Amino acid sequence: MLRDTIKESFEKRFTLLLEEEYEEFIETILKPQRKSFRINTYKVNDSKVFIENLKQRGLEVEQVVWDTNSYFVNLEKEDARTDLGNLFEHFMGQIYIQEATSLLPPLVAQIPQEVNEDFKVLDMCSAPGSKTTQVAAMMKNRGVLVANELDYSRLAPLKLNLDRSGFTNIIITNQDGMRIQGEEEFDRIILDAPCSGSGVIRKSPRTLKTYNPAQLHQITSIQRKLFTRAVELLKKDGILVYSTCSIDPEENELMVHWALKEFEGAIELEEIKLEGVDKKKVVTNFQGIEIGSEIQQKVLRIWPHHYDTNGFFVSVFKKIS
Ligand SMILES: C[S@@+](CC[C@H](N)C(=O)[O-])C[C@H]1O[C@@H](n2cnc3c(N)ncnc32)[C@H](O)[C@@H]1O
Repeated sequence: MLRDTIKESFEKRFTLLLEEEYEEFIETILKPQRKSFRINTYKVNDSKVFIENLKQRGLEVEQVVWDTNSYFVNLEKEDARTDLGNLFEHFMGQIYIQEATSLLPPLVAQIPQEVNEDFKVLDMCSAPGSKTTQVAAMMKNRGVLVANELDYSRLAPLKLNLDRSGFTNIIITNQDGMRIQGEEEFDRIILDAPCSGSGVIRKSPRTLKTYNPAQLHQITSIQRKLFTRAVELLKKDGILVYSTCSIDPEENELMVHWALKEFEGAIELEEIKLEGVDKKKVVTNFQGIEIGSEIQQKVLRIWPHHYDTNGFFVSVFKKIS
């Protein structure tokens, strides 16, 4: 039984962080992830008409609270004919299958309603392209979007997803994000960092078996280097979104804590406000480090049991000098 694979270190850590909510949290992460999709607004003019049409064809959907273009699908009602991946709409790139929390970074990236041709965005760790295609749709295929990915084997699915979504303003690069060339090039940078994945146990239950907080310093060292390069590549007044699908404070609040000290005077933290989204159960201190009230108030940590999703963390920085 999956519950039996929960490691002591996991139980100890999250009981401390969640207190009386721990059981509800465990109950949630032992259930499979809810399936959801985003409507590609670049290909679909009227999302409301589009969703009505899907409903009439038997798909039972529920809107994702933080995005009017995205929907959960009731899988019990889903059958072979209406399986999302088999839908003609998926084949046509009108929908993109994307987990609800993965929608958050582009939504807080402050992409202008009307993007100029010289507006430049970097998605530093982009495969398989969920956030890249979401940002491209928000840019209405204008400006330039650089989709970078280190792992060569992940470029094929990335390219397939970009092609199906129909954009022509995206350049794919295959570099280590820490070594991307240039200085102050970009108006927006999405750093959806490689992470421990402790927030996506519902998708990959084996994370529960392999969970090892003692090894987190390896990944946080990479996250810091990517963050540093992102700050260098960002234009003044540009926005950097740092996110992970981890629920471990080392990769999240402590990263923000480190970043604000390391780049004091160069960046500041922006407050995340999303309609219908409450900040619940913030991390106030961890392993002797006080998480300042500014961080508590401005970042967004999503625990799986609050919105029946995966766990996720997102933070937004502005370059001020
Ligand atoms: C969390 S996933 C990104 C998911 C993607 N943003 C999306 O929404 O579809 C992190 C990605 O970073 C890539 N990666 C790992 N180290 C990297 C590095 N040093 N530079 C660039 N990409 C890296 C991984 O191969 C992986 O594809």
